[in-house]
Amino acid sequence: MHESQMDLGTPMPLKIGMPVSLVIDGKPVSVPSGSSVMRAAALAGISVPKLCATDSLDAFGSCRVCLVEIEGRNGFPASCTTEAEDGMVVNTQSERLDGLRRNVVELYVSDHPLDCVSCSANGDCELQDVAESLGVENSRYGLKGARLRETAKDESNPYFTFDPSQCIVCYRCVRACDDIQGTFALTVDGRGYDSRITAGQLDSFMESECVSCGACVNNCPTEALMEKSVIEHGQPERSVTTTCAYCGVGCSFHAELKGDTVLRMTPNKAGHANEGHACVKGRFAFGYATHKDRITRPMIRDSIENPWREVSWDEALQYTAGRLRAIQEKYGPDSIGGITSSRCTNEETYLVQKMVRAAFGNNNVDTCARVCHSPTGYGLKTTLGESAGTQAFNSVAQADVVLVMGANPSDAHPVFASRLKRRLREGASLIVADPRRIELVSSAHVKADHHLALRPGSNVAFINAMAHVIVTEGLEDSAFIAARCEPEPYRKWRKFIAGEQNSPEMTERVTGIPASDLRAAARLFAGAPNAAIYYGLGVSEHSQGSTTVMGIANLAMVTGNLGREGVGVNPLRGQNNVQGSCDMGSFPHELPGYRHISDPAVRSLFEQEWNTNLQAVPGLRIPNMFDASISGNFKGLYVQGEDVAQSDPNTQHVEHALKSLECLVVQDIFLNETARFAHVLLPGSSFLEKNGTFTNAERRISMVRKAIEPLAGLEDWEVTMALSNAMGYPMEYSHPSEIMDEIARLTPTFTGVSYDKLERLGSIQWPCNEGAPDGTPTMHVDEFVRGKGYFAITGFVPTEERTTRKFPLLLTTGRILSQYNVGAQTRRTPNSEFYAEDVLEIHPYDAEERGISEGDWCGIVSRAGETVLRAALTDRVQPGVVYTTFHFPSSGANVITTDNSDWATNCPEYKVTAVQVSRVRKPSEWQREYEAFANRQEELLDKARV
Ligand code: SF4
Ligand code: SF4
Ligand code: SF4
Ligand code: FES
Repeated sequence: MHESQMDLGTPMPLKIGMPVSLVIDGKPVSVPSGSSVMRAAALAGISVPKLCATDSLDAFGSCRVCLVEIEGRNGFPASCTTEAEDGMVVNTQSERLDGLRRNVVELYVSDHPLDCVSCSANGDCELQDVAESLGVENSRYGLKGARLRETAKDESNPYFTFDPSQCIVCYRCVRACDDIQGTFALTVDGRGYDSRITAGQLDSFMESECVSCGACVNNCPTEALMEKSVIEHGQPERSVTTTCAYCGVGCSFHAELKGDTVLRMTPNKAGHANEGHACVKGRFAFGYATHKDRITRPMIRDSIENPWREVSWDEALQYTAGRLRAIQEKYGPDSIGGITSSRCTNEETYLVQKMVRAAFGNNNVDTCARVCHSPTGYGLKTTLGESAGTQAFNSVAQADVVLVMGANPSDAHPVFASRLKRRLREGASLIVADPRRIELVSSAHVKADHHLALRPGSNVAFINAMAHVIVTEGLEDSAFIAARCEPEPYRKWRKFIAGEQNSPEMTERVTGIPASDLRAAARLFAGAPNAAIYYGLGVSEHSQGSTTVMGIANLAMVTGNLGREGVGVNPLRGQNNVQGSCDMGSFPHELPGYRHISDPAVRSLFEQEWNTNLQAVPGLRIPNMFDASISGNFKGLYVQGEDVAQSDPNTQHVEHALKSLECLVVQDIFLNETARFAHVLLPGSSFLEKNGTFTNAERRISMVRKAIEPLAGLEDWEVTMALSNAMGYPMEYSHPSEIMDEIARLTPTFTGVSYDKLERLGSIQWPCNEGAPDGTPTMHVDEFVRGKGYFAITGFVPTEERTTRKFPLLLTTGRILSQYNVGAQTRRTPNSEFYAEDVLEIHPYDAEERGISEGDWCGIVSRAGETVLRAALTDRVQPGVVYTTFHFPSSGANVITTDNSDWATNCPEYKVTAVQVSRVRKPSEWQREYEAFANRQEELLDKARV
């Protein structure tokens, strides 16, 4: 067990008051008031035996193993449920206590097999520890455990088992599922000796509401709930603390290994983003890292019709540099470019943009954030002055009203969702603005006060109507506005927003939200002492994505909800390092730290450090690269860790662009969809194989640490460095910490960041500089980064993507918990047992009209293309709206999305596509062509490997 996992028995008190001083076993101890005696003892280095207590859960007081003596008190109080008080004198050791404890443990043992030596938990079992410490080897009460041994193990979950015979009914799993995860999947059936833990109504774990977060497994003191990997391979021998490579929550984990095999990922209790919690992806879905499909040798080919040829790193890099240089000589210096990845580390991303600017000699670098949160950058920079969310995740614990807009945290940001649900169970109110009835709208012990089921494409009308109610009903925070915001833009905005066209009654036709509901929601939001906004891609991926982000910032400013805990504007970033890839200068117009390339002073700083000349004009964005490729002006592309062929809109257009390139270089861990069009395939390294940092949605920079050696021999940053050197621009780093030092030298918000400090503090939220040496949990506290807040006018302009008689339904897209983005990682894990294909959610009315039944194949036709998916009938979507996920390439979800995009940033309008749906019998033409092409490319790959 990692030392940060030390268990103090009960949690830190919620409200830390004055310290109290007591004496435990003769040792003076001082702890915050509200601490338990057990915690006080643990902090003094005194271990009190315990079974039902653990410091991630509130004390329960059921096992009675933790009894102590307190001078002046009768009996033997349980130390986990007894609060430490000033002047208390506590005794944790005596013959009497030992006798009582032994008695209790014997009762447990009577119901528990005594086969410790052959048990998978041997050495990691709290019952074993307690029994050993008390010298209990047998039970005077007989061994009734055999009774439960007859109950079969539940092995239905792909990652863990439940063995009732090992269960001591301590309720820790039930409490973890309720209090930490918020799913309430477990109950206790029966009473006394007959009581047993069950998932749902005597279901198996797989059939129950369980979402496989693993919290119950973490908290189980015995082998009753146990990872299958540990049962199979035995207890881990070493651990490395690192950061999850899936979503933008950025959970910290201990990768626990035996030899070079990762056996389990244990959430880090000291992790600031997750505080010991996790979801099924980070906790269990790490097997892709050693999947047989991993590319472990560099490969090259002259044409995509040719088989791959495995070559040495040196040959691959020389070949790549030669082809890219030849293209530049033939077509000009601007004919090549690069795409950075939001899955790679900050250091890797920084190096790719540096290589493009310095070695390629142009600014043709862009990132996949283009297709997700680029409007966040634009909108927040314009209004508040900084392109990032304003809070730490734990800020939500102070929120009184939460507006969740265009986000589905339960699926896409699960660990944040658990935090949010906890706050909602404590009494905070919830407004959900989403076309779909997401899980938060109504789940165990959580019910939204308002679900505003707006129509896709009407976000701006909605957010304007919220502000309209606030302004016209006099609910604004005038003092905040006067002190913190620019007066003239506010005056103009106020006049605009108060206009009748923004009233809920006028916007109702567009949004579909009844005016009275919207008014009630706006009043609730404005009346809250602390109101916070959390939003996702349902906000940004629209033709007016940037406008909505500015509208969100306006709403926060007009109600004074910025600059302290419990409030703020919080973009929930999709991928693990979207924030970081933007921070690192991945956009064609910005150098690291969001500084415009046209600024001579900024350019000169980088030119001196990099010893090169930089172009002063922005380069091509991803969609411009594709257009230029098709028109013949752009011929070479280096793509690190991205799968544009699957993730970008209008797949046919993307495929045409990729096929038009003379040299496509893909660096990835698998032959992904994009790599099928590549001429060079450079093996990537998974997050377990490298050092670096990720920056999560809270601006939190966390260490990624190498747990195993890179399968292909090099970490990704080493590959970029070698390619740059082969291209003739020298780079020399011996460790990613040196890259971070360079970033810190050049980026004002990172000046104080270093690996040493990250080791010391665990993680750092930027800005981290002279003014904030330990980082900045809450932004814009005394003033906005831009000085005064700027109210931008946010006129609603309907998208061109309209429903017609030919395309009467609106398709919107999203994610599911068990799969991640393009699915390249999660599809190669048992997570596919939870979700094996993308389906089309359709309302029963719309389905009936079209003669579609559950599970039928549906043809989905848009102005851009056609694909076929199975139907899932549900009233989670409203009539007129259909919904799908995009995790499986053969689904072709992006074959139907159009190339409409955000006016400011070109972020694609994924969330609104007018479609028609009908029952069909066979896959679409694109799907048939895709399958043939994919099979052909797999054959060409196989030829390289024989
Ligand atoms: S399964 Fe584990 S955590 Fe749950 S009640 Fe049994 S022993 Fe306790
Ligand atoms: S894995 Fe998570 S959701 Fe499932 S029962 Fe355990 S705590 Fe509950
Ligand atoms: S996927 Fe996100 S929520 Fe899940 S463990 Fe990883 S970082 Fe945490
Ligand atoms: S640990 Fe205190 S009663 Fe169980």
